[in-house]
Amino acid sequence: MCGIFGYVNYLVEKTRGDISDTLIEGLQRLEYRGYDSAGIAIDGDKADETLIFKQIGKVGALKKEVESQNLDRTATFVNHAGIAHTRWATHGEPKTVNCHPHRSDINNEFVIVHNGIITNYRELKTLLKQKGYTFESDTDTECIAKLFKHIYDTNIKNGNEPDFNELMKQVLYEIDGSYGLLVKSSHYPNEVVATRKGSPLLVGVKTEKKLKVDFVDVEFPDELPNNEAPINGNTHQNGGLLPVAQGDSGLRHSQSRAFLSEDGIPQPAEFFLSSDPASVIQHTKKVLFLEDDDIAHIYDGELHIHRATREAGISATRSIQTLEMELAQIMKGPFSHFMQKEIYEQPESTFNTMRGRIDFDNHIVKLGGLQKWLTTIRRCRRIIMIACGTSYHSCLATRSIFEELTEIPVSVELASDFLDRRSPVFRDDTCIFVSQSGETADSMLALQYCLERDALTVGVVNSVGSSISRATHCGVHINAGPEIGVASTKAYTSQYIALVMIALSLSDDRVSKINRRHEIIDGLKQIPEQIKTVLTLESKIKDLCTSELAQQKSLLLLGRGYQFASALEGALKIKEISYMHSEGVLAGELKHGVLALVDDQLPIIAFATRDSLFPKVMSSIEQVTARSGRPIIIHNTDDKSINTDKALATLEVPLSVDCLQGLLNVIPLQLISYWLAVNRGIDVDFPRNLAKSVTVE
Ligand code: UD1
Ligand code: M6R
Repeated sequence: MCGIFGYVNYLVEKTRGDISDTLIEGLQRLEYRGYDSAGIAIDGDKADETLIFKQIGKVGALKKEVESQNLDRTATFVNHAGIAHTRWATHGEPKTVNCHPHRSDINNEFVIVHNGIITNYRELKTLLKQKGYTFESDTDTECIAKLFKHIYDTNIKNGNEPDFNELMKQVLYEIDGSYGLLVKSSHYPNEVVATRKGSPLLVGVKTEKKLKVDFVDVEFPDELPNNEAPINGNTHQNGGLLPVAQGDSGLRHSQSRAFLSEDGIPQPAEFFLSSDPASVIQHTKKVLFLEDDDIAHIYDGELHIHRATREAGISATRSIQTLEMELAQIMKGPFSHFMQKEIYEQPESTFNTMRGRIDFDNHIVKLGGLQKWLTTIRRCRRIIMIACGTSYHSCLATRSIFEELTEIPVSVELASDFLDRRSPVFRDDTCIFVSQSGETADSMLALQYCLERDALTVGVVNSVGSSISRATHCGVHINAGPEIGVASTKAYTSQYIALVMIALSLSDDRVSKINRRHEIIDGLKQIPEQIKTVLTLESKIKDLCTSELAQQKSLLLLGRGYQFASALEGALKIKEISYMHSEGVLAGELKHGVLALVDDQLPIIAFATRDSLFPKVMSSIEQVTARSGRPIIIHNTDDKSINTDKALATLEVPLSVDCLQGLLNVIPLQLISYWLAVNRGIDVDFPRNLAKSVTVE
């Protein structure tokens, strides 16, 4: 939901202006995750001085606030650690005191930024208040900052000066919940400790020289002898809690191998910590994704990964990966909004979803991530698709073709409802989790629930390295590229295609399905070009949105069979972006109540593309026109059976196979929602009250 960003420079000279600009730009790239307020913490001019700046509103407002402070922007720092945050309010309304960074005390001894929720914060707050701490905010986060100081002071009183990562471990023992956390302290100048649990966090690494190895060793507590003296020159005096030991090679055991230099001289390095690769990519492509419960400790130009305990199955290294994402991919290009850009990317993104996976000439679908698992999935007793929002609609859109091709019963679940019902799940179930971000809390919790019950879990995810992608047994990356607009568009069409491809893979051993499979694969081949044709409707749609639809307060979408999902998805897009009430209605249900709403005023969009249910949809349209309703009809190109006289407007889309037609039909709705919103002066990429990645329950 919120975004966190940190920047540490070591032996790299930066001015205060450079540092605050880096932090603020990092936040700007995270803004799409949540944006009601923002803040940064950087060093002041005096030793041990930490400055905190906060502002409600967008990151631009924080930038102005920092600029208005008359700071010496030219002051230089060879070593420095700064942290930053964009907030989307969960505990406490958006006001300055609730912005992050939060602090331990008026001297800012410990400052922290946090994503997620601390579930036992009330108990901690009560306890810390009893110990004399005064709270400034309504947030759950502030108790972590106070806890750091309390535990630090207690250690000092007992004669220990804990290492920063050791202190983090002691704090983590006390807190429950989910978190991505960065901490900076005047007691540990130029250092940052970071950790995550159920919330994404990665570290970007930038060095002049190539890293010695492309991984970082995980340091477990039992590997560090307790009574060896700190080695020469090590400034990390930690009072014996976690001494740094000398190995046979003369190297520090805890020295990070990746950062070793030939001559032992410290190397200049920069580190970028973030909840999202999108804010790191402009600085470096080398990133390390933290695992849950990892503690990253950055100091003296090195990155160390610690864990409090050694659990079975935990890898002893974390790899430093090279991100493929290009900066250009995350910029708007010639488009006014990310949403518009992403709508226009669909010919390419749908193609990328299929690239290298479908051999169109031989009608073969091969999903690298599922090959080994196909036999197990084919044997399962049922398939449960679980998702939220738009991702849920892509499941609804493909359920029927899944059932038809696989002959396995399929149910589709909203993650939150699935969990509320504690729905029974068994070890012979296959649970498919569909998520653009791969970080949606409801979906992630449902995934954990299914894992605990030993079901096979399959992810259909856009973000590589996301929590769902990593926690599922297997899956398919939809490869749509980064989606920044809060309204999901290209992810929907790519999820849809990925799910169809899964159904095709699962049925490739069924002779009885050969013709149907060939028809669908041929249909998929045409989709990218057909999307290009649908996109040419934009100017007609723009006119419709500035004329007939401009002043409307409500809108109905009618669909049936495959097009019910298109109606629901269209209605969601319109609601979330234009704030206009809209409702997707199953055309067959019209006469059971909804017809009462129909008059000559209420705009109705009807999907009347050709499939087996076409005659029934036409009869629903007649029910509407008989009551003076004037529908906007989406139909196939040159379909002469459509009575255009009684329609308010018609929108023609190319014909596809029945189960793929929704890929084309949804696009006019994406454009309608976009233009309704633009005409109403709404900031399309940042609709009110919503965030791109919903990491709270
Ligand atoms: C993979 C590579 C791709 C390369 C291709 C060539 C990755 C991310 N993909 O693509 O760069 O061009 O091989 O052979 O390295 N997975 C999950 N859960 C999910 C999604 C995926 O567990 O939600 C797993 C898959 O089971 C698989 C791995 O992640 O083991 C990669 O999945 P995917 O990117 O879909 O595989 P390929 O298309 O084979
Ligand atoms: O990242 P996910 O696909 O898991 O997100 C699920 C929903 O939050 C998301 O689809 C939401 O409904 C979109 N904003 C809709 O446009």
